[in-house]
Amino acid sequence: MRQHVNPLSKYFYEFEPIPHLSKIFKNPELPLHIDIGCGSGKFLFDLALENSNWNYLGIEIREKLVLNAKIKLKEIETNNLNFSYGNATLLIKDWLNKDNISILDSVSFNFPDPWFKNKHHKRRVIQSDFIKNINKLMKAESLIFVKTDVQELFEHMDEIILNSDYFIAIDLDMLDHLESFNPNQINTQREEYALENKLRIFKKIYKRIY
Ligand SMILES: C[S@@+](CC[C@H](N)C(=O)[O-])C[C@H]1O[C@@H](n2cnc3c(N)ncnc32)[C@H](O)[C@@H]1O
Repeated sequence: MRQHVNPLSKYFYEFEPIPHLSKIFKNPELPLHIDIGCGSGKFLFDLALENSNWNYLGIEIREKLVLNAKIKLKEIETNNLNFSYGNATLLIKDWLNKDNISILDSVSFNFPDPWFKNKHHKRRVIQSDFIKNINKLMKAESLIFVKTDVQELFEHMDEIILNSDYFIAIDLDMLDHLESFNPNQINTQREEYALENKLRIFKKIYKRIY
């Protein structure tokens, strides 16, 4: 099993700031989705190639994965996909400091690292301050999508998101997926693994209240 990367280590103080949207997307006016902890980016490549009416941005702490994704970006014809590497907490804070208010249409957290031990919970990506910052980047009624195969982590993330008072949970069946960033409900790599191994998948969608 892969060793998790400790986002709080000094090594991750450095990150690649998210460029101005006009520098990374051909049409920066399209709806924007970000995927936090995007891994290799395969999920986003699949999405971007299928949906030219959305822009997609992946954030991943493991630099090597982002470098490889960027090599692949040059090989294929797409102008609605990009990646930045670094600890999402720092990247999002930096992005917000550049006045990027209300620019996101949706955000996904797919199978974030669980950090099981209590003393390591602070390494989990979803924390109260982080949700507060993400909230400021999001448009009114925009959506957060959460998936994990770890029930305890799911409950922890749910509590933080709902306690923020910025979001309400919405009924999964009420969502018109065709209008979302993932109209064909493509699975992520970890999701494929979970399905193959018959692991229970916990999912929830949250809507920004105003
Ligand atoms: C279990 S993998 C899931 C990958 C992918 N989302 C999927 O569903 O297949 C979690 C990913 O989140 C990344 N990650 C963990 N903490 C992060 C952080 N603070 N900022 C950005 N990425 C992070 C890890 O490096 C890893 O690639």
